[in-house]
Amino acid sequence: MNMEERLAQLAKYREKLTQGGGPKRIAKQHESGKMTARERIEALLDPGSFVELGVFVGDSNFDTLENPGEGVVVGHGTVEGRVVYIYAQDFTVSGGSLSKAHADKIVKVMDLALKNGAPCLGLNDSGGARIQQGVDALEGYGSIFYRNTLSSGVIPQISAILGPCAGGAVYSPALTDFIFMVNGISRMFITGPQVIKAVTGEDVSPETLGGALTHNQRSGVAHFMADSELECFEQIRALLSYLPSNNMEEPPVVDPVEPEFDAEELLSIIPPNPNQGYDVRDVLLRIVDAGSFFEVQPLFAPNGITAFGRLNGKVVGILANQPKVLAGCLDIDVSDKLARFVRFCNAFNIPLLTFEDVPGFLPGTNQEYGGIIRHGAKMLYAYSEASVPKITIILRKAYGGAYLAMCGKPLGCDAAFAWPTAEIAVMGPDGAANIIYRKEIESAEDPIAMRKQMVEKYRDEVSNPFIACARGYVEDILDPRETRSRLIATLDALATKRENRPRKKNGNIPV
Ligand code: HXC
Repeated sequence: MNMEERLAQLAKYREKLTQGGGPKRIAKQHESGKMTARERIEALLDPGSFVELGVFVGDSNFDTLENPGEGVVVGHGTVEGRVVYIYAQDFTVSGGSLSKAHADKIVKVMDLALKNGAPCLGLNDSGGARIQQGVDALEGYGSIFYRNTLSSGVIPQISAILGPCAGGAVYSPALTDFIFMVNGISRMFITGPQVIKAVTGEDVSPETLGGALTHNQRSGVAHFMADSELECFEQIRALLSYLPSNNMEEPPVVDPVEPEFDAEELLSIIPPNPNQGYDVRDVLLRIVDAGSFFEVQPLFAPNGITAFGRLNGKVVGILANQPKVLAGCLDIDVSDKLARFVRFCNAFNIPLLTFEDVPGFLPGTNQEYGGIIRHGAKMLYAYSEASVPKITIILRKAYGGAYLAMCGKPLGCDAAFAWPTAEIAVMGPDGAANIIYRKEIESAEDPIAMRKQMVEKYRDEVSNPFIACARGYVEDILDPRETRSRLIATLDALATKRENRPRKKNGNIPV
């Protein structure tokens, strides 16, 4: 063949490969409300930046290809000009199922992402292991899981679930840092409804079992939910704007902007009645740079908030109790949510800001039998382990073990501040007064009035922030309006923080 003929042959094969499962299956994909793998990549990355790798991997007889591209498109591109590696499973080819060659293509970009210190993005749309392949497909999954683990804490790994993901197809996403799902098209389960029906007799729809809402709200497997694929890609791009490309870099710095809302309002957000809730977001939005509050897992364990934000243009990880849900108590789910976020931020050099208003751990047999001891301990562990700058602001209640679990001073917190509304004590005034002023209350003519008086006495004399301040456990009591400027100055002073820790293979966080 001369050059012209060779180029024509190349174009023919390339065309065939880029058509994936062909026009009929592409039409079916569109009918089911889904984009194709290539359309997704184009929509997510900077326009025209995608460079495909391993285009011809798979069967070498290109005239009779059964699985063009082996059901996955891989390569690199950019997001806001920064390099990312990406793979997108192609459901039009054998349902995006994973063969050994399919896995090899994914492994290739995972290796390149790790070597080059760039985020790895996975767009998942797969029926799981390619059933015809047997053990070769399992070998492929294993090598992906192994690399997910090697990359963990080195480069950000992000998964979008954009179709039915069953069996092996859910474990790689579960090993990554963040999972995005789209309402109505994303499904994740280990065993599907039919298997469940056969084994346990339960009737459950695929959506109820493994839809976006289920995993964002109930199981906590996923972190973000979108109403469309395009919205999902916008969310991924927004998340990346807060992350460094790898653990040796600092997160990107942008031009600082003042908060969107008036700091003066910080004086009236916390209700005078300590038993009344409020939305802690109202506090946070008056402290961070305008437009920079990006919440992670907003639907799961809403009694705690985890979010990326910026202060003076620099990225911080924000954790807060949410007094308007369960009074901000710590339970099993919120402990898992907060501890995992702490560990992500620490791995990627993101300072931690913890806003505390917590009456304690949630009491109850469900919590105890579910292992709140083990789960709550994760928070103590994660905060103690974190070596990034750690700053705590006690807004109101800071009681007992929960006071410590929200990055209490002894856990290596670099600076703790209190608002004048802070109540720092071993337990809440109600419980404490019942115990330490029991005799006075019992012997009073009007025990109810006396009890009320003793609760106030305890609040004034014992749980006020001045005692913790006098002991040096709290650096200062802040006028709420100066919180932002004090945090900015403290973060700047901690920017060069270095800590030496004992060498170990790995710690043993109570998982
Ligand atoms: C081979 C598969 C496949 C698979 C789907 N296909 N899954 N081929 N291996 N795992 C093929 C179908 O045969 C079909 O081919 C095409 O993909 C589209 O599938 P449909 O069933 O028509 O699509 P849909 O109705 O949307 O249903 C999608 C689905 C369903 C829910 C994913 O296909 C399904 O239940 N698949 C099997 C899921 C599963 O049990 N996977 C194995 C998991 S075991 P044609 O040619 O007809 O278009 C596993 C173990 C790994 O993963 C463990 C590692 C830890």
